Amino acid sequence: LLKEALAKIEAAEDGRALQEVRVSYLGKKGPITEVLRGMGKLSAEERPVVGQMANDVRDEIKTKLDEKEQKLEEIRVSKQLEEQKLDVTMPGRPIVQGSRHPLQAVVEEVEDIFIGLGFSVEEGPEVETDYYNFEALNLPKDHPARDMQDSFYFTEELLLRTQTSPVQARTMEAHAGKGPVKIICPGRVFRRDNDDATHSHQFMQIEGLYIDHHVRMSDLRGVLDSFVKRFFGDSREIRLRPSFFPFTEPSVEVDVSCGLCGGSGCRVCKQSGWIEVLGAGMVHPKVLEMSGFDPNEYSGFAFGMGVERLAMLKYAIDDIRHFYTNDTRFLAQFKRV
Ligand code: PHE
Repeated sequence: LLKEALAKIEAAEDGRALQEVRVSYLGKKGPITEVLRGMGKLSAEERPVVGQMANDVRDEIKTKLDEKEQKLEEIRVSKQLEEQKLDVTMPGRPIVQGSRHPLQAVVEEVEDIFIGLGFSVEEGPEVETDYYNFEALNLPKDHPARDMQDSFYFTEELLLRTQTSPVQARTMEAHAGKGPVKIICPGRVFRRDNDDATHSHQFMQIEGLYIDHHVRMSDLRGVLDSFVKRFFGDSREIRLRPSFFPFTEPSVEVDVSCGLCGGSGCRVCKQSGWIEVLGAGMVHPKVLEMSGFDPNEYSGFAFGMGVERLAMLKYAIDDIRHFYTNDTRFLAQFKRV
């Protein structure tokens, strides 16, 4: 019996087979239990001898079972370790790195240029009051120029700002009538427009404002000319055309010479040689006054430009919607920008 049991233990190849052996020999229906149960039928002399033998056999089987069990466990563990082995010399999988959004890159570049010209960077709220978005900019409630910018209103007094110009009024108020004020302000603006290749209901602007004693139109021209040359390249020229904004007088629209044809006329500039890039003008005396500056003492200029437009011109992007759809094939092209 013992030999047979030991052979079976030896042959068991996994924990389950071993458990079967254990049950069949040491279990309640096993042969050893049977022997011990039958002890009553034996004579007084035989009993201790048989009992001793049965106990010895049981102990031996038990010991061998335990030994084998441990051995099997060791094999299982080392097999598992073998399977999970890690080759630390293997090259890693590359991690796909994101990059700055092209609009953010342009904003930062424009900021750097204007910081170099002595401007500091301000911010203003995207949810704006009717007062700052329109009234303080010389657009009273019934002013027809409000039609130029269809707006997203929350209430009669609150709207998503349609331009970054309200930051002009906010910043002037904060300076309490004392110049100089020399700021730019990048930010999102919102207009009720139908989205297409050149229009979006949400886009970005960068506002500029410079107020001091004796600020003149020629200062505006000089600053914008420096900016355009730094941003687009030294060969670029600017041109000022008369225009209208309620908060500037006089007002101008600023064109930059076409970078493709250099001014002779091509597809990009619609044969005109010029591309419109921003609106600007001398801050209206009424606007100065409403925000606490004495127009007899101070004058200033302001400008506002579309960030998407700058980016599209600089990087030859043909559809404004590329900026918002987050196609990584588009975004990945600006990794080094
Ligand atoms: N806020 C004007 C616009 O959105 C641009 C502008 C800003 C014009 C400052 C003049 C001065 O079109």
